[in-house]
Amino acid sequence: MKVQTRWHILEDPLAVAEEAARRVCEAARRAISERGVFRIVLAGGRTPQDMHMLLTRADTDWTRWRVYFGDERCLPVNDSERNSEAARVALFDKVSIPAQGVHPIPAELGAEAAAAAYVPVVDAALPFDVVTLGMGEDGHTASLFPGRVYPTAEIVHAVHDSPKPPPGRVSLSAGALSCAREILILVTGAGKRDAVAAWRAGQALPVASIGGETVVDVLLDQDACGDLN
Ligand code: 6PG
Repeated sequence: MKVQTRWHILEDPLAVAEEAARRVCEAARRAISERGVFRIVLAGGRTPQDMHMLLTRADTDWTRWRVYFGDERCLPVNDSERNSEAARVALFDKVSIPAQGVHPIPAELGAEAAAAAYVPVVDAALPFDVVTLGMGEDGHTASLFPGRVYPTAEIVHAVHDSPKPPPGRVSLSAGALSCAREILILVTGAGKRDAVAAWRAGQALPVASIGGETVVDVLLDQDACGDLN
């Protein structure tokens, strides 16, 4: 199925974070009103951290939030490089999401065991209300990297020899990341410009494999889009 993508060019990283936070809060309001619960997948890396911090100001019922992760690095639980640890510092420690509402990927167990343990968690959560993702300079997203083949039957992958350290990771599959009512991909910085251009030119990058029935909304800043205007 051809992925439909909407490109939203914003002034700078803060504008991207503000628009992403606005969309997440609106999705949360709608999900909680319609289904009594809001299921969101958080992106890893640095880009979403401003959004996570802005979400601490949200006027929302945090007890209805269920938080998942698009990927995780195989590091000790409290390692500052863990995506779950970055989200704890920026968001969870500042709002009243119940501990049982946050579902970290147990990547400290090792990639295979963690992926196996996360399958039932993802299975029970689908479809997500919102999936947020970043993109690397090579067009990777979550821990889905170019040139790799991921078993299509899996909804959670064990990843080894990752080109972005650490080598061991766990990633939701493109299919699981696409099973959402709303997909937001946040891209900022001139370093992402070439990958954005390749993506828009139709190159089969991992980030381009996300979406399908759900339109993908890409929130990018001026630096990342170059002469996209
Ligand atoms: C990770 C992320 C990864 C990230 C991109 C962009 O664990 O590193 O899941 O996919 O989103 O590499 O990272 P930045 O936002 O730091 O540029």
